[in-house]
Amino acid sequence: MHPRILAPGALAAASLLLAIPASAASLSPGAPGIGDPYYPDYGNGGYDVSHYDLRLKYQPATDELEGTATILARTTQDLSSFDLDFLLDVSEVRVNGAAAAFTTSGQHELVVTPKTPLPKGTSVTVVVRYSGVPSTKSAYGFSTWHRTPDGAVAADEPEAAWWWYPSNDHPLDKATYDVSVAVPDGTQALSNGTLQSTSSKLGWTRYNWRENKPQATYLTTLAVGKFDITTGTSEGGVPVVNAYSKDLGDNDGAARASVERTGELVDWLSGYFGPYPFASAGGYVPNTTTGYALETQTRVYYSPKQFANGSNTSVVVHELAHQWYGDSVSLKGWKDIWINEGFARYAQWLWSEHEGEGTTQELADYVYASHPADDAFWTVKPGDPGPDDQFDIAVYDRGALAIQALRNEVGDDAFFAILKGWPQEHAYGNASVADFRAYAERVSGKSLAALFDTWLFQPVKPAAPAARTAAITGKAGAVARPKSWKRIAATNDVH
Ligand code: TRP
Ligand code: ZN
Repeated sequence: MHPRILAPGALAAASLLLAIPASAASLSPGAPGIGDPYYPDYGNGGYDVSHYDLRLKYQPATDELEGTATILARTTQDLSSFDLDFLLDVSEVRVNGAAAAFTTSGQHELVVTPKTPLPKGTSVTVVVRYSGVPSTKSAYGFSTWHRTPDGAVAADEPEAAWWWYPSNDHPLDKATYDVSVAVPDGTQALSNGTLQSTSSKLGWTRYNWRENKPQATYLTTLAVGKFDITTGTSEGGVPVVNAYSKDLGDNDGAARASVERTGELVDWLSGYFGPYPFASAGGYVPNTTTGYALETQTRVYYSPKQFANGSNTSVVVHELAHQWYGDSVSLKGWKDIWINEGFARYAQWLWSEHEGEGTTQELADYVYASHPADDAFWTVKPGDPGPDDQFDIAVYDRGALAIQALRNEVGDDAFFAILKGWPQEHAYGNASVADFRAYAERVSGKSLAALFDTWLFQPVKPAAPAARTAAITGKAGAVARPKSWKRIAATNDVH
């Protein structure tokens, strides 16, 4: 995200550029992808978004969505045309006020050709008017739009935006958001950040949400339905807004018994990760039938299935840990997923230790021992798992094991300094696994090349670290099951 303030010199340069017809060589279409090798056509090239303003109207009965997206961006090259990632039906596009030509291409590209080419380094305002029934749209044969009996939910990874707003859909291009949603009176609309206001007229209630810190597209969420909304403030001063579908049935108590602890758990995590990075926290539990939970920024999505066996504070800890590891500090590329999932899993291990249900070392030993050397688990490289294994359990469990190995290598003082320093070092930005290694080496004063290579980049089971071998193999290869083993296993498939 770049500030939109134009230096006086830049303005002069821009008008100069406009006066001279751009040469064919320097003027080209923006790329249909941002350049992520895992997903070559995700995101787009040639511009950088600073803000999305989404003004929406949604009818749950028919799944009809109408919207106007106003996108503030800055060009990073001379552009003859540029793409947005989007699937709904577009009726009008304006670029800097002038009607622009548009067409669709590929799986999810909206190609916009402005009347006049856009010079590099200038501010651009793009208005897209659209409508459609999101549940009828798919790309690559799938849809991530979830209708519910009383509404719908957009929350998915690595893609969810295509079904409800046009975007540069990649974590590398973060932006602030105003999301304003009109829904029939009696229905609620949720999104990220702070609820600025609500208003009602002509049978429709409008909810105005604002996220004032940079946010990745996949972390932007929309939920419409009949919700009970609770508000509060954590002991540490973080405002909390949670929402529960009025239709959670037997899972209602367990959902509330878990998610109502958000404030307490945000404060607890702050002890490890530093100050909570956002102006609001919370979660919502809609009446969806799919599993999963997702770290949607400030307003976590929880499937009711997360609470089918009773309270599940572990999943709340996992998703809240992502607010630092994933949301404030986002990935540079999807190959860097270990920084998200390894640390969110490690936070669950810290919580397990806090609850007396197994220490981080016991859990690391347990993961290590429960996968024999020929288990496919070890073929996944958490540091670069490939798109097919991006969310494999190994990214989580082997990923957390790597973090325990790092802790044992650098010692607790350096380790906890890294854990807390990293979210500050890259707050509201993007970083890679290579950046993390460089940071850990700087803080610890140790070369960590071999450690990272062994635990994150080799498709084989690492030899047990010398100091731990006795503990792991001491009792004829047996490892005592930590008391928490059942809970950890139960949460494996759900986050
Ligand atoms: N990031 C999620 C978590 O660990 C997991 C996840 C991956 C997910 N892909 C998803 C959740 C798709 C919902 C939908 O919490
Ligand atoms: Zn996660």
